[in-house]
Amino acid sequence: MYFEKTQGFPKNFLWGSASAAYQVEGAWDVDGKGPSNWDKFVRIPGKTFKATTGDKAVDHYHRYKEDVKLMAEMGLKTYRFSIAWSRVIPDGNGPVNEKGLQFYDDLVNELLKYGIEPMVTVYHWDMPQALEDQYHGFEDRRIIDDFVNYATVLFKKLGDRVKYWIIMNEQNVFTTFGWMNGMHPPGKKNEEKLFYQVNHHANIAFAKSVLALKALYPDAKVGSSFAYTPGYAYDRHPENAMALEDYNDLKNFYWMDIYALGRYPRAAIKYLESKGVAPEFAPGDKQVLKEAAAKVDFMGVNYYQSCVVEHNPIDGVGMSMEMNTTGKKGTAKVSGVPGLYKNPQNEFLSTTDWDWTIDPMGIRICCREITSRYDLPIVISENGLGAFDKLEDGQIHDPYRIEYLKKHIEALKDAIDDGCRVLAYCTWSYTDLLSWLNGYQKRYGFVYVDREEDENSGTLNRIKKDSYFWYKHVIETNGEEL
Ligand code: BG6
Repeated sequence: MYFEKTQGFPKNFLWGSASAAYQVEGAWDVDGKGPSNWDKFVRIPGKTFKATTGDKAVDHYHRYKEDVKLMAEMGLKTYRFSIAWSRVIPDGNGPVNEKGLQFYDDLVNELLKYGIEPMVTVYHWDMPQALEDQYHGFEDRRIIDDFVNYATVLFKKLGDRVKYWIIMNEQNVFTTFGWMNGMHPPGKKNEEKLFYQVNHHANIAFAKSVLALKALYPDAKVGSSFAYTPGYAYDRHPENAMALEDYNDLKNFYWMDIYALGRYPRAAIKYLESKGVAPEFAPGDKQVLKEAAAKVDFMGVNYYQSCVVEHNPIDGVGMSMEMNTTGKKGTAKVSGVPGLYKNPQNEFLSTTDWDWTIDPMGIRICCREITSRYDLPIVISENGLGAFDKLEDGQIHDPYRIEYLKKHIEALKDAIDDGCRVLAYCTWSYTDLLSWLNGYQKRYGFVYVDREEDENSGTLNRIKKDSYFWYKHVIETNGEEL
């Protein structure tokens, strides 16, 4: 749509930034924390860039007060962070570790002291290793009760002060990487049947957590964050238009329909049944999904890039089992599903050093699609640029990051003019942090952290980048001056 005049961002718009426990906290075995699946996975040779771990990460666990103070100085309205399950319940389903829980209670209070709205992610990929050992985590239905029990511990402790809850972070990513391409724990490949069953268990865990939260705090705002990669048909050939339909049903709506409508896309289920890999339902599952969807308040969107969708013949390219984790541009491979679609490069768009397509209009397209299909408010829970930053004379000049964010915020403004109800925009990330597979050299933050891949490197000092000052001004002007 084209509008003569922009209406701008709403008055109480939540300008934010985000992180995840494993990527920032460090203190991996401190104060009673149990090991997580990631603590184990990163120790397997060859799994992460230069064998980096989150053992120390950027030591947010010990420096959270300094980090929150910097947020307050910037004027941040919301901070999205996740909770490490194995810090709160070290065995996953055993007793609560009060010290671990207290850390999050303190963090919430520290944020509120400065008027920063806490936005809590219940699960951002770090599963207690004990549950992997007991029954392989999400592969077993027992995960549902344990997950809901963990979530309820958080709701009870923090729900009087935390209004915004994100239950799952990028379920589509952690399950694809965990059971299809083997790049995340538990490192399994091509386990298609298990992949859909794992997702089903995660969906029921999500749904029951939503219901548990609403039973305790009916006014809480809840959703999940979906890694939304909108697709563009390669060209006007009808086969490519159909490939896009397939892509959307299997790669996007498959999750978003569950969160917002409480059901899977019909064509996707038909296809999975024909292959014998459709998820198995237990009695009551259907109803729980429906009941929870009716109570979901927003769709969380992690937006980084769009993709091209082209028909892929039955003997065509399969899923790529590797990705560019070095920052050497042009090393990513085309991936696809034989018989359905593949995702070639888009020659109209540039890419990051890690071969992620840069497409600001994509964020508007995500918002439009969600608004039309689900008519739900939207929380942009992640958006940002991973780049090599250079420390020069104690400063970091990152005009590329400013340019990236500016263009995406402009597109978001357009989405608001289109009538999309966008509640929040969280950049990824606040401080620099561990990029799961890419080490510490792929930086996303407004605040530079002095450390490299080597665990003993750097002072961990915080340094404001140029983008820090730029975002401060964006917040001050409520997005009027970009
Ligand atoms: C999202 C995740 O997938 O993207 C974050 O929620 C992650 O945890 C971010 O760090 C950027 O991805 P990467 O691989 O560049 O760190």
